[in-house]
Amino acid sequence: MYTIIAKTPLSHNVSRMEILAPPVARKALPGQFVILRAMEHSERIPLTVHDVNTQSGTVSMVYQVVGAGTRELDSLKAGDSLHDFVGPLGMPTRTEGLQKVCVIGGGVGCASAYPVARSLHEQGCQVHTIAGFRSREFVILEEEFSRVSDLLKVMTDDGSYGEHGMVTDALRALIEAGHRYDQVIAIGPLVMMKFVSLLTKEHGIKTVVSMNPIMVDGTGMCGGCRLTVGGQIKFACVDGPDFDGHQVDFDEVISRSRMYEEFEKREREENCRLFRQEVQ
Ligand SMILES: Cc1cc2nc3c(=O)[nH]c(=O)nc-3n(C[C@H](O)[C@H](O)[C@H](O)COP(=O)(O)OP(=O)(O)OC[C@H]3O[C@@H](n4cnc5c(N)ncnc54)[C@H](O)[C@@H]3O)c2cc1C
Ligand code: FES
Repeated sequence: MYTIIAKTPLSHNVSRMEILAPPVARKALPGQFVILRAMEHSERIPLTVHDVNTQSGTVSMVYQVVGAGTRELDSLKAGDSLHDFVGPLGMPTRTEGLQKVCVIGGGVGCASAYPVARSLHEQGCQVHTIAGFRSREFVILEEEFSRVSDLLKVMTDDGSYGEHGMVTDALRALIEAGHRYDQVIAIGPLVMMKFVSLLTKEHGIKTVVSMNPIMVDGTGMCGGCRLTVGGQIKFACVDGPDFDGHQVDFDEVISRSRMYEEFEKREREENCRLFRQEVQ
């Protein structure tokens, strides 16, 4: 059992959870993830390691409530325990030797982008961060990013906070202003990573994206997280989650990610029906 040390809401459906898991805290690096189950019968949920504290042996993740599994996780509070917690999994993000990087986070993807930005900053790299959100109420981690970024642009789709526009608008403006990046690292919704990669390809900037397809075992055995990169089959859980954004077949990943949409919609409706019955 893995004790929940703290749970902190960051926005209306996003929270940070700190778990006591010393063996994971000792080994986890930026870009790696864990797979947890809230309760014995729960679904497995992959979540990126957001932060570790090797002194206290704790690991923090930031999660957005999107379906049954994350709702169950969110029903737990500090002092409760998770049934299981496996990690660190996947390959760490490569940050060594870079001089100037633009880190781009979209929505809850900012939780995974932050440890990468911090690691680059700690190694003396110049970090420009672009954090994009739908609107003001979804903005998270602004203060944390400002501490590790030489330049921070917060974008909102509706202009309710920061600058109005998409992360690609900000990236295009920075490139046109003459900034030359060794690399762009983009973490967020598939469509965002696809359009960032298309833009950087035009400008010949190496781009790393963090792929988050549906995962089951997280060990390369089930094939659930299969994707095509540079014409070859890769497994996001063991070969990634980071891949060359110019080589990923985004259209295939996007269509695979929609495979369970109907099933998940039915499950959400069923849960709402049960909830309504409970309150009546
Ligand atoms: C390596 C990796 C790292 C991740 N890191 C984080 C993180 O740090 N924070 C976070 O909030 N989420 C993260 N995710 C996504 C998270 O695992 C899913 O949101 C979660 O498993 C959904 O479970 P659910 O049962 O609540 O929702 P479901 O009922 O399974 O799905 C609800 C909705 O979420 C979508 N969804 C389901 N799984 C994924 C997925 N893997 N990626 C994107 N959308 C998905 C579904 O298409 C559906 O629209 C990560 C995923 C991977 C593979
Ligand atoms: S999650 Fe099973 S192969 Fe990657």
